[in-house]
Amino acid sequence: MDRIYMDYACTSYPKPDEVIRAMTDYMTRIGSNVSRSSYGTAYEAEEIVYDTRAMLCDLFHGPDVKNVIFTKNITESLNVLLKGLLKPGDHVLVSAMEHNAVMRPLNQIARELFPEAEQVSGDGSESEPEGLSENAESGLEKAITYTRIPCDTEGFLQTQEMEKLLCPQTRAVVMMTASNVSGTLMPLDAVGAFCRKHGLIFIVDSAQTAGAFDIDMEKSGISALAFTGHKGLLGPQGTGGFIITDELAGQMEPLISGGTGSFSHTEEVPEILPDRFEAGTLNLPGIAGLGAALKFLREKGTDRILAHERQMTQLFLDQIASLEESGCLKIAGPRTAAERSAVVSVCPQHMDPSQLAFRLEKEYGILTRVGLHCAPSAHKSLGTFPSGTVRFSFGWATTEEEIHAAAQALDKLCRK
Ligand code: ALA
Repeated sequence: MDRIYMDYACTSYPKPDEVIRAMTDYMTRIGSNVSRSSYGTAYEAEEIVYDTRAMLCDLFHGPDVKNVIFTKNITESLNVLLKGLLKPGDHVLVSAMEHNAVMRPLNQIARELFPEAEQVSGDGSESEPEGLSENAESGLEKAITYTRIPCDTEGFLQTQEMEKLLCPQTRAVVMMTASNVSGTLMPLDAVGAFCRKHGLIFIVDSAQTAGAFDIDMEKSGISALAFTGHKGLLGPQGTGGFIITDELAGQMEPLISGGTGSFSHTEEVPEILPDRFEAGTLNLPGIAGLGAALKFLREKGTDRILAHERQMTQLFLDQIASLEESGCLKIAGPRTAAERSAVVSVCPQHMDPSQLAFRLEKEYGILTRVGLHCAPSAHKSLGTFPSGTVRFSFGWATTEEEIHAAAQALDKLCRK
């Protein structure tokens, strides 16, 4: 039985051959570090890293190549951004669909700054700042708090609510580009305009759409764009980063400090970018692979990848629609592929989601992700908490045959 990979939202597979070749070439022929030594292969490695930064800057319309910072994944990027930026008394707006890559660092810093406070496990409906219990209100000036912008049962952001949730301490909006549970797209331009109007920092988690959707930092007024290399960008695991405006970088402290190969005469972290946020040796084989993946995306065209993913998603939605109509399963999120990334989460009505995912693999070789997908708040908005969903997610190499096979398997397993 061939395996049918439908877990692109978790990590993309397969990777283009070019990615594997670039990583092997780096490991077998180049092997040198960057920003430290001065010989031929070190310069070659430098060129690979620079070119990869430049392609990322170009892809996301970043301010400058130096403003592209590498980390090991988007979670690390969001930790560096949130922990380096937020100060006691700051308030942040987040969407009610956020993943734990945003929520856990936020809750952690709320707790570290104000350990005596009980954290609130809000369901996204209340408009009081979260992160602390009511009995700790006297200490709000010392705390970091957040408020969730409500989302409807399809995961759409209720932008009309945002104005009401502002308070004098609001400093930033942190938001994903699309939900990893339902695929629901977030209105980046509208939120960016809101941030511009109110002088707020706009931090964006691009994990679910980078590599297919156009994300334009300048047009959408994004202050920092966090990215991961191993999903839609088609690079290896262990690569990621963020692109940051000079203005925001100037307001942040580095989370990690150490050697950068630059300004070696001083024991202080350099001020310049990217060095300020890039201490220690980078994942160079990974960056070589990511660079090759970005070249592959350029040649193939991200617009063509998006069109392909939309076609696959719509085909799947159409093929499983009758299962929903007959009450065998529920589809989470928007009705059409145009309103979502290439993700379709379903809730079987006559069996446990884990059992369905297990049987999909065991009997049909179909690989999905089941559960809460590290996003409990999203499931609360969608009405799928705590049972979770079985998530099918598609990518550049998904075929029509695979979609038919998955729809047929669902029919066999779910229809009563
Ligand atoms: N956040 C990733 C997912 O949704 C890992 O699977």
